[in-house]
Amino acid sequence: MMRRKKNGSSLSASGVTVAFGGFKALTDVTLSITPGAVHGLIGPNGAGKTTMVNTLTGFQSPTSGTVGLGGRDVGTLSPHDLRREGVARTFQAGRLFSGLDVLDNLAVTGVGLGHGRAASEAEALRILDWMGVPHLAEHPAAGLPYTDERRVGIARALMFSPAFLLLDEPAAGMSETEAADLAALIRRVAEDLGTGVLLIEHNVGLVLSVSHHIYVLDAGMIIEEGDVDVILKSRAVRDAYLGADQEAA
Ligand SMILES: Nc1ncnc2c1ncn2[C@@H]1O[C@H](COP(=O)(O)OP(=O)(O)O)[C@@H](O)[C@H]1O
Ligand SMILES: [Mg+2]
Repeated sequence: MMRRKKNGSSLSASGVTVAFGGFKALTDVTLSITPGAVHGLIGPNGAGKTTMVNTLTGFQSPTSGTVGLGGRDVGTLSPHDLRREGVARTFQAGRLFSGLDVLDNLAVTGVGLGHGRAASEAEALRILDWMGVPHLAEHPAAGLPYTDERRVGIARALMFSPAFLLLDEPAAGMSETEAADLAALIRRVAEDLGTGVLLIEHNVGLVLSVSHHIYVLDAGMIIEEGDVDVILKSRAVRDAYLGADQEAA
């Protein structure tokens, strides 16, 4: 079950610039998401994090540079095509079908992939079980507590058996305990399923605790990358978060 799609070595951006009119949301960004690892993407508000996710998932075309999947240029593929190639994401807002229960919300995705009703429901149940929330299956999507809605969003993305999963602020609005539970789940997605994860979070502590490799964006540029030790020791990162005016203090 839930074998990830085999899609070569990585999902990557090479020299990606995204301009909206004269404004560059991303400038010459190069990063790579590899299987079986969590990659953090942090940076202040407006740094370009969501634009990066949009670009890696086909919602935004790069103005220049390339998006690669297993060595192939996929910069012009649609979100739909990229999902079929094993690149899935969640959204900052839930986007569940409010009239359906959780099982049906997940099964709809499987049916859309051509797996048939029974197989799709079975897969949905397996995923909910694996996540430790089988009791959610018959819960109406409309009345879900916020943290469960977030989990269901991830479960739905897992219905694609993704080789790569991109999570844009999945812990927003959660308590520290809830966020820690979610972080553990994200780590399992990478390590147990072999999925390459890109995690965007406002909660920097959460990202540092769960990521194997971290990229730091500031004003559309990668200003640092490395493991948690590199990020914690980085003067550039400190300046980006504290602001240059804190320097003298
Ligand atoms: N479609 C768009 N048109 C114009 N500007 C945009 C668009 N999307 C994002 N931006 C701008 O690009 C910058 C980066 O936005 P975003 O990627 O959402 O940042 P983050 O997710 O890091 O907060 C912001 O200044 C934002 O206003
Ligand atoms: Mg954002």
